[in-house]
Amino acid sequence: MALNLEGLPCAVSLIRAGSRGSNGPSNAAAATAAAFVSEEGAEPGAPLLVCLDQRALPAAEEHLCTDDWRCAVSWVKELAVRGAPAIGAAGASAVALAAHEAASSGRERFCERLEEASSVIRSARPTAVNLAWAVDRCMESAEALVRNGAAPDGVASALFDEACAIMREDEAANRRIGAFGSELLPQGCSVLTHCNAGSLATSFYGTALGVVYAAADAGKIRMVFADETRPVCQGSRLTAWELARAGVPVTLICDDMAASVMAAGKVDAVVVGADRIASNGDVANKIGTLGVAVLARHFGIPFYVAAPTSTVDPAAPVGSAIPIEERATAEVLPQPMDGVEVFNPAFDVTPAHLVTAIITEAGAFRPRDVLQALRQED
Ligand code: MRU
Repeated sequence: MALNLEGLPCAVSLIRAGSRGSNGPSNAAAATAAAFVSEEGAEPGAPLLVCLDQRALPAAEEHLCTDDWRCAVSWVKELAVRGAPAIGAAGASAVALAAHEAASSGRERFCERLEEASSVIRSARPTAVNLAWAVDRCMESAEALVRNGAAPDGVASALFDEACAIMREDEAANRRIGAFGSELLPQGCSVLTHCNAGSLATSFYGTALGVVYAAADAGKIRMVFADETRPVCQGSRLTAWELARAGVPVTLICDDMAASVMAAGKVDAVVVGADRIASNGDVANKIGTLGVAVLARHFGIPFYVAAPTSTVDPAAPVGSAIPIEERATAEVLPQPMDGVEVFNPAFDVTPAHLVTAIITEAGAFRPRDVLQALRQED
């Protein structure tokens, strides 16, 4: 099967109302934005956020469009858009929408409204640090512009450009991660992955699946085993769909099958993404990742984490400092049962000693050296 990334939709796009959009993956986003403009009457040039609704996959490929940052916050909370870098992109876009909305206010009120909105956007989900990182980057740029005397509409316009830059840089980082990661994989290898750290979870291309795509392009991939990833099933609904769409051989397994697939010698490497990486190399990622890492160590299989440097949090010295999101019990047990409590942490922390290497856009690092990746990016 030939690799076909052109068939993958963009998870997040920021578009100006009335613009034609571009070719390739963003055509569907541009069409959704055009429909929104004609139905809602958005003013020409207003920023519009378009997201692929990942709740509907794989049954339907539907896009959502809004000019309201509050709506973007709901989509992030409800997992319409998910995956650490993608929620960073959506968060930055939401700040651009908020700035446009507040731009008719006087300078002081503009700053207050932008600050209020950004703190709500920043806290929409707590674990993936990319969201706070992207919002903070936008707000630092806004504050610098205001200090230099920029008018609110100038700041709003600059924030649109900043959000677009974050998305372009994210895709470029993913392609570098892919190239570095592919070098670590042997010819004819089978990879196991958990959750979705693919194009759908980023601005485009993916982190863990970016490694898979680069390796597939080099003819190295025999098979990808995709863990189902209970309870929200990002593996079965998203990763399996994405890999099949991209033309990469994929076998879906239930989470509890990973051990026997590894025991049978069918897995040469594990590659996963990350939501936040502590300074010591501990890695927070989708619940279940820790179990996969323990299994990989038991069976002597390398366990790689692929993530951009925006996922590294120098303020978290160790994994236990990373806040772990607890989600609704209905994700685990749709019909409550008398006498049954449900615990639903969305992420777990894999200790650095179980991680073979962390692959970033600055290269592959031993987990304990991960801060070096940030220094190389400066
Ligand atoms: O709850 P989700 O679907 O947002 O969780 C996503 C993950 O855990 C991914 O593995 C992680 O964000 C890396 S995405 C490149």
